[in-house]
Amino acid sequence: MTNSPQSLRQEFQDELQHTDSAPALLELEKKFLGRSGKINDLFEIMKTLPVEEKKTFGQTINVLKKELEAALAQKKSSLGRESREALDVTLSMKSEYTGNIHPVSLVNQEIEDIFVSMGFEVWDGPEVDTEYYNFETLNVPKHHPARDMQDTFYLAQPGYVLRTQTSNMQNRVMRSKKPPIRAIVPGKVFRNEATDARHELAFHQVEGILVDKNTSLAHMRYVIDAFLKKLFKRDVVTRLRPGYFPFVEPGLELDFSCLVCDAKGCRVCKHTGWLEFMGCGMIHPYVLKEAGIDPDEYSGFAFGFGLTRLVMMLYKIEDVRLFHSGDIRFLEQFR
Ligand code: PHE
Repeated sequence: MTNSPQSLRQEFQDELQHTDSAPALLELEKKFLGRSGKINDLFEIMKTLPVEEKKTFGQTINVLKKELEAALAQKKSSLGRESREALDVTLSMKSEYTGNIHPVSLVNQEIEDIFVSMGFEVWDGPEVDTEYYNFETLNVPKHHPARDMQDTFYLAQPGYVLRTQTSNMQNRVMRSKKPPIRAIVPGKVFRNEATDARHELAFHQVEGILVDKNTSLAHMRYVIDAFLKKLFKRDVVTRLRPGYFPFVEPGLELDFSCLVCDAKGCRVCKHTGWLEFMGCGMIHPYVLKEAGIDPDEYSGFAFGFGLTRLVMMLYKIEDVRLFHSGDIRFLEQFR
């Protein structure tokens, strides 16, 4: 029972020591300094004392009250400091919780840097586009069997598709200004195919377009070889084979020597020593004309490769479905 200033001081100090939160401190304040708190109890006792004792007792309680108030204020400010420290936004956080750049974006950035260093612009394009841009501008008229080369997602809105190729930007890029034109178009494309370790409905391509006077396949090959050398930081052997795409003439396929086995033959290159890399060729006169460019004055080349496939090769990723899986364990490897 606390009915002396001495024992009350002791009790208060003990409790204060064990108070470590703002709500608990408020409770303590109420208990001792509140309207029906312990200090007021002492004042009640004082009233019952004989007059000679009242004065000194009163002074003692007043001193004690001030002491308690000061101690509470001090504790309050130190608790406040602690809670502010807990919210210090300048403190470094644990790096294990930060995100990181997706491998496709990582390689994409590198590719953009290389082509920009060679004077190419980087273009973006729509993923939902018209049949006109995805096919007709590219010399693939309606009902042409070449449309079956790509399993297209046709949208309910007539005339609209999910783009099957970044070539859907060829016409727009070529229309944008007078040659010389140098541009790449990285982006997502869609094909209505069954998915497996090598095929996905959505994947990334990079398109390349160059139009100028007197261009040739030799220029094209130089640009691609220079690009591959910069990307892989070593010499890469390429080869060209005939290939059919309605929007290039001649049309070609470009392979490069397998970097996994140094062209000796392995599982990745199916023991051929070569990796299929891209479709390419000289832009068909029809495509130039459709973009308002005179094929008698200008010529150009275009190429398109699968960025997703390239990333798989660079990082030896065996299943394309990992890219869109959102699996943190997969993504964390690309810090
Ligand atoms: N768009 C073609 C494809 O997706 C690739 C390509 C691009 C071929 C440019 C030639 C020229 O298969």
